[in-house]
Amino acid sequence: MKKVSIIGAGNVGTSLAVLLKRSGYRVVAVSSRTIKSCESFMRYVKQGRICDSNAEAAKLGEIVFITTNDDVIEEVCKEIAPVLSGKLVIHCSGALTTDVMKAKGARKAAIHPMQAIPCVGKGVKSLPGSHFDVQCDDETFAFAKKLVHDIGGIPVRISREQKVFNHIASCMISNFSVALFTIALELYKDVGIDEAEAVDMLMPMFEENVRNIRNVGAIESLTGPIERGDINTIKKHLAALGKVRWIKALYICLARSTLKLAEKKGLELGKVSNIKALLKSHIVR
Ligand SMILES: NC(=O)c1ccc[n+]([C@@H]2O[C@H](COP(=O)([O-])OP(=O)(O)OC[C@H]3O[C@@H](n4cnc5c(N)ncnc54)[C@H](OP(=O)(O)O)[C@@H]3O)[C@@H](O)[C@H]2O)c1
Repeated sequence: MKKVSIIGAGNVGTSLAVLLKRSGYRVVAVSSRTIKSCESFMRYVKQGRICDSNAEAAKLGEIVFITTNDDVIEEVCKEIAPVLSGKLVIHCSGALTTDVMKAKGARKAAIHPMQAIPCVGKGVKSLPGSHFDVQCDDETFAFAKKLVHDIGGIPVRISREQKVFNHIASCMISNFSVALFTIALELYKDVGIDEAEAVDMLMPMFEENVRNIRNVGAIESLTGPIERGDINTIKKHLAALGKVRWIKALYICLARSTLKLAEKKGLELGKVSNIKALLKSHIVR
């Protein structure tokens, strides 16, 4: 039975520990910045012990997960490096590669869950069935792949160079779609429409688009004034957004990408040029 240590008792560390325990791994140790997080970890995992230092936790496991926030992974790895020889050390950052973990004699892997994990309950539910991008050397890959399979995930091998782009794409879909949704809600607030009502109004459309993209792809899913070439409607939008400059700038940016899709879907070139010129004339420099 493989012994696992978790350093960083947050959402990802705790969710992974629950799933690893469920799959037959033995969680032997946890450490975190605060005792409060370790205690919360224990309520979910009910295995292993809370350690006073990261090095003590790392010493006890054969597989050591650094599930801290990205910015301290390097520093934490430096702190535990003296006890890592012969072990496998893993971080879960999407943007960072294994290069940030400097530890002689240790095997290293970056295993990044491609899922939004806002809390432990959701992580435990959604991680099985999710993709995990894995960056490591050939020797380590077979083991990392098995670990991901063991917790019900789908491993995808990725190179050092591909990692940051995969992470930008993930942020666009995961984080920016959430941001876009809240920007849409702000527009309602400005004209006195209640937020709960606005969520109800937008949600079916939001969900239908996700289904359509899955079923027929992005181009065939596209609807709206740009897809139809309704330039007067776009003019009306731009005029209405006149005062909210940053939302107008975002609208123009997204409209330009939408126009490229509309062109691929078959919008007449004359209409494409007219809309392009209209958008260009509204760019604030
Ligand atoms: N959440 C997601 O959706 C998601 C998805 C994919 C990948 N990831 C990756 O997973 C990793 C963890 O993210 P998360 O969302 O789980 O973050 P999180 O909930 O904020 O957890 C990070 C944990 O690290 C602990 N920590 C910070 N500094 C530490 C130190 N010096 N020593 C020990 N522990 C320390 C914090 O401890 P205290 O709580 O005790 O302060 C916190 O519990 C990141 O690399 C992130 O990029 C996250």
